Amino acid sequence: MFEIENLHAAIEDKEILKGVDLTINMGEVHALMGPNGSGKSTLAYVLAGHPSYEVTEGSVRYFGEDILEMDPDERARKGIFLAFQYPTVIPGVSMANFLRMAVTNVRNSRVDSTNGNGGTPKVTPREFRRLMREKMQLLKMDESFATRYLNEGFSGGEKKRAEILQMALLEPTMAILDETDSGLDIDALRVVSEGVNALAGPDMGVLLITHYQRLLNHVKPHFVHIMMGGCIVQEGGPELALELEAKGYEKLRAEVAVPA
Ligand SMILES: Nc1ncnc2c1ncn2[C@@H]1O[C@H](COP(=O)(O)OP(=O)(O)OP(=O)(O)O)[C@@H](O)[C@H]1O
Ligand SMILES: [Mg+2]
Repeated sequence: MFEIENLHAAIEDKEILKGVDLTINMGEVHALMGPNGSGKSTLAYVLAGHPSYEVTEGSVRYFGEDILEMDPDERARKGIFLAFQYPTVIPGVSMANFLRMAVTNVRNSRVDSTNGNGGTPKVTPREFRRLMREKMQLLKMDESFATRYLNEGFSGGEKKRAEILQMALLEPTMAILDETDSGLDIDALRVVSEGVNALAGPDMGVLLITHYQRLLNHVKPHFVHIMMGGCIVQEGGPELALELEAKGYEKLRAEVAVPA
């Protein structure tokens, strides 16, 4: 479904991604781990279409279609979703309005692209409110968040839940979650993981960027990839995350001979 091939990307003439290869199929959960500064968020941004990054080589195909020329909103309408490592505060825009606009745009484009046959049906304002309440309950979020400005004054963990709420409403096909577990307390980690598990399924691919094995106890990955210095240097099953936890990056770096 999602094929990243020899992807190179730079920011301000500094090459950060140096040949990333990664394929994600429907129904698969992939974990991406790696030391600070290795390029994980850069990969997430490039996949979502952040305009500051320049792709210098390689390709990204989504259902066979090259997405690198598409604008971020076009990618979003096609079902690609990114939960940010550092969600943005948007004062003046309430969470409910933001989510309703996003959902309306994404769903309606799905309806249009299928001529109304078999697509996700359009959402009425009333249905949206019901849907939002339902998903907020699933994520154990207080309803008062709906009327607050997007992420303004939200605690670290509240921002992360708001990202998952977005994902729950948009129902993406390819979800990229950048350190959605960081800053969550133990109960929140369970709630958010249950949310991800409830959404993940045969019709979705997930790329989970994380530093901790802890999350992977809740959301079981099929594959684990380790990124260092802008490349994926090792791949394996869930056991690789455990091995990494025991060994640390220094030992791994020596084994795969990646410069620090
Ligand atoms: N605008 C920029 N100018 C220069 N270097 C940048 C810029 N943006 C990112 N970088 C560098 O790119 C590298 C990769 O950053 P990235 O955020 O992708 O790392 P990461 O793997 O997500 O790290 P972390 O685990 O800390 O989130 C870092 O060394 C960072 O300093
Ligand atoms: Mg990062």
